[in-house]
Parts: sequence; C-alpha cells; structure tokens
Amino acid sequence: MSAPVQPIANDTLLRALRREPTSHTPVWLMRQAGRYLPEYNAVRAKAGSFMALATNPALAAEVTLQPLERFPLDAAILFSDILTVPDAMGLGLSFAEGEGPRFANPVRDEAAIAALAVPDMARLRYVFDAVRAIKQSLQGRVPLIGFAGSPFTLACYMVDGGSSDGFPLTRRMAHARPDLMDRLIDVVARAVRAYVREQVAAGADVIMLFDTWGGLLNAAAFERWSLASMRHVLDTVPRGIPTIVFSKGAGDRLARLAASGASCVGLDWSMDLHAARLAVGDRVALQGNLDPIAVLTDPQTVVRAARAVVAAAGPAPGHVFNLGHGIVPSTPPEHVAVLVDAVHAASRKDTI
Ligand code: CP3
Repeated sequence: MSAPVQPIANDTLLRALRREPTSHTPVWLMRQAGRYLPEYNAVRAKAGSFMALATNPALAAEVTLQPLERFPLDAAILFSDILTVPDAMGLGLSFAEGEGPRFANPVRDEAAIAALAVPDMARLRYVFDAVRAIKQSLQGRVPLIGFAGSPFTLACYMVDGGSSDGFPLTRRMAHARPDLMDRLIDVVARAVRAYVREQVAAGADVIMLFDTWGGLLNAAAFERWSLASMRHVLDTVPRGIPTIVFSKGAGDRLARLAASGASCVGLDWSMDLHAARLAVGDRVALQGNLDPIAVLTDPQTVVRAARAVVAAAGPAPGHVFNLGHGIVPSTPPEHVAVLVDAVHAASRKDTI
C-alpha cells in the first residue's frame, strides 16, 4: 500500500536535487545518525547490537531523528544498512564488535551463485516499517532519503565475505569468471530494484545508491558491473522521486555517472566541485564533498572548510552539501553544529 502524500515543510533538498533555486544550500551528512552521538550509543546499547537496532522499526526511527533534534539538517536518512539485502538472500549478516560486517555464507563459486534468488520482500519488512515510522515521526519536516547499495558494492561484500582491503576475491572473480559476475550482479540488481520500490511505496522521498567500491574497477568493468546495473535500478524508481548516485573514487567517470539517469551525483572529497560541475554540465545536481576529517579539527577550520566547499559549488542551483564519505565516530557533535550553520550562513540568499 502506498503511503499518504504529505507536504514537506523544508523542501530545499528536493528543490536542489531538481536544480531549482533555494533560500540556502541544503545540508545532510552521510552517517549523520551514528556513533559520534552519545544518544545513538545509548539506544544501540539498549538494543544490544547494530542489527538489533536496525531491525527494530521504532528504535530505527528514534535514531534517525536524533541528529535532526540537535542540528537544523535539511534531510533525514533512513537508519539501516546496505547489507540488509544480501542478508535477506540468506548470507547471514553479523557485525562483530569493532570489526565491521561479516557474512557467514559468502558466495564464491558457481553453485553458490546459482542458488541465489531475489528474496521475498516480506523478509525486509522491518526496513519498510522503519520508513513508515520515520515518516510518521517527521510529520513532513524534511524529506526522508531511502537508500540501497549498488549491485556491485553489495557483490563485493557477498564474495569477499566482509570488509576487505580492495576486495581481491571479487576482483579475481570478475577477471576469471565474468560470466559468474554477470549472474551475480543480475540477481542482486533485481533484488535492489524490488527493495527501492518498496521503500518508495512506504514513503521515501529520495533514493540514494551507494556505489562505495565501483572505483575499484577499470573503466570497462565499471561500465559492465557497476554503472549498467545502477541504471537498471534507477530505471525502476518512480518519476518524481529524485535519485542520488555516490560512487567513491570515480572522478574520471563523472560524465558517465551524470548520464546514468540519476538526478544527482555524489562526490568524494578528492574531487573539486567546480571541476566536477564543468565535467557534468548542467544536467544533474552535485552532492558533497567535504573531507570528513576536516570536521575533527576546530570550529574556525570547520567554518573555513565549509565556506570553501560552498564557494567551489558556485552560485548556480543544484548543490547539496555533504561530506565526501561517512562522518567518523570521533567527530565532536559541536563541530557538526558549527558546520551546518556555516553552510547555511555562507549560502543564504536574500531572495529566492
Ligand atoms: O548514513 C546514514 O546515516 C544512514 C545509515 C547507513 C549506515 N550504513 C548505518 C551504519 C547507511 C546509508 C550505510 C551505508 C553503508 N553500509 C555503506 C555505503 C556507504 C559507505 O560507508 O561507504 C557500506 C559500505 C556499509 C557497510 C557497513 N556497515 C560497514 C562497512 C560497516 C562497518 C564500518 C563502520 O562504519 O562501523 C557498517 C556498520 C554501520 N552501518 C554503522 C552504521 C551507523 C556502525 C555500526 C555500529 O553502530 O556499530
């Protein structure tokens, strides 16, 4: 069942994604609900683990709203993880304390890949229930961003079995058995399509694809396994729902990402926003791209760094301020307050 349509009070994110003028540059931060917030750590401790928190819609809604209670952020992002989809495909996800994600059943051979199927979306109902609970709590204050991993980024964790330095088993499979990689990406892409459609039906206002590891692939492999499957996913998002693709380390592929069908391309901190604008022309919005480490420094440095990003984005509409990757757990929350205010102040227009 589709969620009732609710007007959004602060729609600067939606306007910027459509490259319409806004009163200020909208800002949200990757991992804005996370371990740098003591109130997040308290709820996570109460839940018992990251997955216990993510699978409890009421608690997931509570932590999604936490950063919005502290800072005047212009968007909420669903509290969940990209690895929920392979978990629902039977890979057995766990997060060992301090070690990151691990799959009990990685897929490394033909038989394991042949056995994969698009999961029944009922297995991911906790995610869609969280979307509904968050929309209810938000009361239309700001838009809610739903998300998924890109099929290739999910494949990296599914084959290597967890976080890894360069995902060598995945890249080896891509070279040795491109036919298997095609089949893996195909089934994961069909799962991700169903997943993002359900998030939109539950009320997500924007869909973002995290292609964290697409930059590991050479140009031809990037086109075949990262970009083509993202186009296939973006193609299923209903018209009227803006989309963002974030592909880390894809500086030389911006023009191709801009032609993927997404409304916005997210940039990591290695790229210059002005150069990126020249590379993509005016067909997409751009999101980014402050180095998350800059927020660890001191208030004056944070303000200077925020102003430099706003200046590099230029005066034309179509910039969403964000970090170039997730906020790091040792970030002082007071610095985040300074950052959000600095972006708003530096970009404020007298008229729109
Ligand atoms: O951005 C947000 O606030 C929304 C929630 C969100 C999380 N993960 C919560 C999370 C989103 C959008 C993600 C995406 C995600 N997850 C990505 C793509 C973006 C990126 O960071 O590159 C990836 C690769 C993952 C997989 C993943 N999840 C890893 C590698 C880890 C461990 C590393 C780490 O940061 O601890 C996670 C765990 C995770 N996902 C945490 C959070 C808040 C920390 C878990 C905890 O509370 O212990």
